[in-house]
Amino acid sequence: MTTATNRVKIFDTTLRDGEQSPGATMTHDEKLEIAELLDQMGVDIIEAGFPIASEGDFRAVSEIAQRSKNATICGLARANFKDIDRCAEAVRHAAKPRIHTFIGTSPLHRAIPNLTMDEMAERIHETVTHARNLVDDVQWSPMDATRTEWDYLCRVIEIAIKAGATTINIPDTVGYTAPRESADLIRRLIETVPGADDVIFATHCHNDLGMATANALAAVEGGARQIECTINGLGERAGNTALEEVVMALKVRHDIMPFTTGIDTTKIMNISRRVASASGFNVQYNKAIVGKNAFAHESGIHQDGMLKNAETFEIMRPADVGLAGTSLPLGKHSGRAALRAKLNDLGYDVADNELMDIFVRFKELADRKKEVYDDDIVALAQSGAAPESNRLSVKFLRVICGTEAPQSADLILTVDGKDIQHTAKGDGPVDATFNAVKAIFPHGARLQLYQVHAVTEGTDAQATVTVRLEEDGRVVTGQAADTDTVVASAKAYVSAVNRLLVRREKSGKDTKEVSYKDTI
Ligand code: KIV
Ligand code: ZN
Repeated sequence: MTTATNRVKIFDTTLRDGEQSPGATMTHDEKLEIAELLDQMGVDIIEAGFPIASEGDFRAVSEIAQRSKNATICGLARANFKDIDRCAEAVRHAAKPRIHTFIGTSPLHRAIPNLTMDEMAERIHETVTHARNLVDDVQWSPMDATRTEWDYLCRVIEIAIKAGATTINIPDTVGYTAPRESADLIRRLIETVPGADDVIFATHCHNDLGMATANALAAVEGGARQIECTINGLGERAGNTALEEVVMALKVRHDIMPFTTGIDTTKIMNISRRVASASGFNVQYNKAIVGKNAFAHESGIHQDGMLKNAETFEIMRPADVGLAGTSLPLGKHSGRAALRAKLNDLGYDVADNELMDIFVRFKELADRKKEVYDDDIVALAQSGAAPESNRLSVKFLRVICGTEAPQSADLILTVDGKDIQHTAKGDGPVDATFNAVKAIFPHGARLQLYQVHAVTEGTDAQATVTVRLEEDGRVVTGQAADTDTVVASAKAYVSAVNRLLVRREKSGKDTKEVSYKDTI
């Protein structure tokens, strides 16, 4: 009986459901790096992508499958043989491969492929059987389970179990359920469906009503022993259950939720930062566990209490999630050894050449800024050197701004190894800079988001700029940091254009990638 154990498996889908969220596209190298961090932190199953969606997804899943040391590597496949075969091929080199196949079972989702209930049941039988003939570990999901008729849900789950599924995932695809209902649904399914005791039930919650974490924990109380989640709660619309929230809730409130996971929680902060920078989705300041303010105590009463006894206002220690205590900032006299030690403290294990690159940029920053704080170092480590695959980079920028419009930007971009200069006017220095980029490298992408965050306090703080562009339904995000906000803006814009070019290449000139929501 699978519910006899109190060990809850953590299934991370940052690289599939998270990356699917518009604008969160990550590069191949970023996916490999995040998969490695997930593996090191003790995630049980990594859903590494949707192999049929694009060549890039296939390559990422298969490379992650080859590299991962501990975790099961899973790929997503719709309910057809072509998807499943491609998925099996992508995960086949994993020490522990898994195929996750799904179909939408609610009335609204059944209408898309236009299958009758019987035809869909037959399709589930055929596809799960096929997947099971290819790998031993098959997960099956009735998409939109929480809006599927009870009798039909029981019927199709039974079919999937009989066809060989080893994990049954119950997705709350549109974030519709509530905690009591979530617990009851899993409990009743386990009690009702023949064979339910022989498989693991998983919970997969979306956060449309802000209840994803509560619903996932309730599902565990109902008997689920796998939680599907993403780092920072990344995911479509309002996102998925946040890994850090469920894991820390189970740890801190073990007294009332006596379940364990295999996660090394001290690795949470580092991976949260990496996912934020790779996806371009900054973590909101007051986000539970990983927000900048999650452990900050501003008010006098709180600070006084904290100094006397940290437990007055803290239910977990910052170190539990990998946040180093306050430490001294570095300055322009700090050497390479101090920088390496600081990077290690912050969870960055850099090779010698990477250290050299970060050190050069650290010295430039320290010349402009008196004190270089931990967050500055993280921004430096994350902005990294321009990958060689980048076709565009910013070589020179000078803006003229002030009270008299229009403002202008004099820009030199290196495009495919050649320097091109242009001066453009605009409504403010950032607009002028973006106009200059467009003049040098014409494109039809539309600016969807422009966001500036100060990394630390003070007028000499670095700014992290996020730029999101949309072209033909493809959405990409670029991010960059600099003490000069306009320079950071130019770099972020250029980074987004570089990502757009990769996306164009990946999907063929005019075709969009396959969506997991396309009809089967
Ligand atoms: O939300 C959802 O239903 C999904 C499925 C593909 C499992 O992500
Ligand atoms: Zn989902």
